[in-house]
Amino acid sequence: MPMSALEHEILTYSYYRDAEQHGANLLFLLLRLVDDGKVAANLSRHLADETRHAWLWTERILEIGGEPQKLNDGYQVRLGKRAGRPRNLVDLFCLTLVAEERAVAEYQAALDSGDASEPTRKVLEAVSKDEHWHIQWIQAQAAAYAEAEGDPGRVAEALARYRAMDIEVMAELRNMEAELTAEMQPR
Ligand SMILES: [Fe+2]
Ligand SMILES: [Fe+2]
Repeated sequence: MPMSALEHEILTYSYYRDAEQHGANLLFLLLRLVDDGKVAANLSRHLADETRHAWLWTERILEIGGEPQKLNDGYQVRLGKRAGRPRNLVDLFCLTLVAEERAVAEYQAALDSGDASEPTRKVLEAVSKDEHWHIQWIQAQAAAYAEAEGDPGRVAEALARYRAMDIEVMAELRNMEAELTAEMQPR
């Protein structure tokens, strides 16, 4: 049966929610690995933001009468499969950064499309506002770790590697989206 517009909306927010929760999971991993208290404080604030973002999308799903969909093939799972187990903090921070950049780009595209309802726009704006700080501090921290290792070029190298994977993952997700919406029923 073709998917209805409402089902599609619930699925879209479920993918956003899934990405936010997997982002939080990656931050938990980083918290276990870092020794520096200032970095741990930033990670804690960042983690609080991502879990709140996941809740905002969950709440939005509930508001439109849905339930969050369990996903096994979201953005972060696909990216993680390609990235494997990152070797060190520079890699882990760069992987986080690429996922953050993708979140900002996707949320901005959803805002720019003009398709979002007013309550959804509010959520898109609320989450986007935080993502800019996330990108800024994660980028600075990745650079600081690479500098400390005496290899500042590692950041650009890792980012290029993960951005190439991100492009592949997004191509897969957009194909899937195109197939789902091809025969979509009006709400
Ligand atoms: Fe987020
Ligand atoms: Fe974020």
